Amino acid sequence: MTSTLLERPATSTALDIRPMTGTCGVEVLGVDLAGGIDADVVAEVRRLLAERGVVFFRDQSLTPDTHRAFASLFGPIVSNPVYDHVPGHPDIMPVVKEAADKYNIGDTWHSDMSYMEEPPLGSILYAREVPPFGGDTLWTNMTAAYDALPETLKTMLDGRRALHSDRFLTERLQERNAGRSTRLREDRVGKELNALHPVVRRHNESGRPALYVNYPFTWAFEGMSREESLPLLNQLVQHATRPEFCCRFRWQKGSLAFWDNRCTMHYACNDYQGYRREMHRITIAGPRPA
Ligand code: SIN
Repeated sequence: MTSTLLERPATSTALDIRPMTGTCGVEVLGVDLAGGIDADVVAEVRRLLAERGVVFFRDQSLTPDTHRAFASLFGPIVSNPVYDHVPGHPDIMPVVKEAADKYNIGDTWHSDMSYMEEPPLGSILYAREVPPFGGDTLWTNMTAAYDALPETLKTMLDGRRALHSDRFLTERLQERNAGRSTRLREDRVGKELNALHPVVRRHNESGRPALYVNYPFTWAFEGMSREESLPLLNQLVQHATRPEFCCRFRWQKGSLAFWDNRCTMHYACNDYQGYRREMHRITIAGPRPA
């Protein structure tokens, strides 16, 4: 698949940048992503990603090719190993809830694919059809969450590791697929993906520490059982999802969210029963957490 969008030389483009909250999320207005992006816009989006965790654009008109081309400006694309893809586009994941579906994708606070040795740098979600109400997505800034921890807890967590696993998805695969249009791949049953990651990771671009645990995929702290780990895990997720670290995005057709998976978690609200929502997601390769 070829890229139809080229990064153009820097032209000192002035962007209209609007922070969403005190810590998380920023809207960037006045950019037509399908029309080509200046190198300084790419650099600014990278900076905003690391600082605010998620960057939003509205009123975009993207095809799978221009979506892919935009994503490619930030790194190689990785296919999701667990979910089916958009027919004809192995590198694009459909995030679709039909009107009759019971379940959506992502209604737990999570960081994408943290069960991989090298989880993605980020994901780019593009809204093709949205319900008349509901279906918002929330993000939380895990750098801000880490900064706000008591110093004693920071000292306790620094240098520790946790096991991440995709068993949350695959153990209930049949039940989840029965009520959902975006399907987990049947051939994943019995094949666990897992990886050990630092509980506090340093962002490879900003250098800042961020909490790196999430509800569905962090299975246990190293040297502890699942049962022994759950109280601390729940406490950290509860702390990290305090409203002060979060933003909430109301989607419109043509909205696009680009989140930094190294320093955020996100949560997709399943509150629009009876209506259809269709998104396309492309995920960009990331470094091994360190
Ligand atoms: C996801 O977790 O990637 C889905 C987010 C959403 O549909 O808003």
